Amino acid sequence: MSERTYLVTGALGCIGAWVVERLLEKGDHPVVFDLGTEPRRIRDLLGPEALARVSFVQGDIANPAALGACMDEHGVNHIVHLAGLQVPFCRADPMAGATVNVLGTVNVFEQAAKRGIQRVAYASSAAVYERADEDRAGGAPCENASPTPNTHYGVYKLANEGTARVSFLEHGTSSVGLRPLTVYGVGRDQGMTSGPTKAIKAAVVGRPYTVGFGGRTDFLYAGDCADAFIAAADRGPEGAHVFNLAGESIAVTAFVEELCAQEPAARDLVRVEGGELPVPGAIDGARIGEVLPGLPNTSIREGIAETLRRFRELHAAGTLDTSDLDS
Ligand SMILES: NC(=O)c1ccc[n+]([C@@H]2O[C@H](COP(=O)([O-])OP(=O)(O)OC[C@H]3O[C@@H](n4cnc5c(N)ncnc54)[C@H](O)[C@@H]3O)[C@@H](O)[C@H]2O)c1
Repeated sequence: MSERTYLVTGALGCIGAWVVERLLEKGDHPVVFDLGTEPRRIRDLLGPEALARVSFVQGDIANPAALGACMDEHGVNHIVHLAGLQVPFCRADPMAGATVNVLGTVNVFEQAAKRGIQRVAYASSAAVYERADEDRAGGAPCENASPTPNTHYGVYKLANEGTARVSFLEHGTSSVGLRPLTVYGVGRDQGMTSGPTKAIKAAVVGRPYTVGFGGRTDFLYAGDCADAFIAAADRGPEGAHVFNLAGESIAVTAFVEELCAQEPAARDLVRVEGGELPVPGAIDGARIGEVLPGLPNTSIREGIAETLRRFRELHAAGTLDTSDLDS
């Protein structure tokens, strides 16, 4: 088989860094397309030799010429589209949010169609649901629920799912959109649900930290999330599909309890305060397993242990960035 070259948009972010790490592990070529230039989160996961195998292109996801040139120059044949602005950024600046999240996604699908790329894996979000969708569904909503997002971010993500559907109708581009909820693990340092990962980091460096939301949420390990995006890009079915991407739904306090069991210093440092998230506390993630069997499901215990281990290594090496604990 010819080499697989993956365009990974937004790959300087948390999930993208894990996608890059996993692609290198399976011997493929990641092309990072991101507005940023600092591969800090990728470096947190990779040694220098592996980093040298990554191609980096700086560009704006909403710029057709820049994205098209990147795809041509590197001979891209697979796409994982993750570039986006998260809930707080979209709330603060809805115009910028729509430009990046909506126009950026239209751009990805248009450039893919022009080049005959068969399939796009892209990040939607469980934020397409509002909290009341859980009550309406009588439990964790599945993909058949009609979502009613209550943030600009959720509205944009739902629009992207429509773009994907129309791109299949008009150009035959297949797609898989994934809807994760609370992703945690090394690199998760911004966005509405980044608090649990920051709590792990705070425990490692001995700083107090308050997770700003409570209730239950679905915790998905970042490495598992990356594996699902790669599986979707490699072997997603024909058509435009959208799947919830669930990990394990537990109370935020239970997550912190597990952290305290593994790192007792957290007991005096980590607090949970604040209301529930504006999204459901759980999502029904059964369907994706029928279409993409064999996806990993790291337990919260293992995920916290892995994250603690890596944060401790980075801290010992003096390279752990803690600027996110200030915000
Ligand atoms: N982290 C989660 O819990 C979660 C949950 C659901 C959905 N998602 C979605 O998954 C995707 C990745 O999430 P993440 O946590 O890695 O996000 P992140 O915020 O860590 O990374 C997003 C990346 O997009 C890049 N970006 C922003 N604007 C850009 C532009 N105009 N052009 C090119 N790149 C741009 C940023 O520089 C950043 O590297 C996002 O689309 C996000 O909405 C994340």
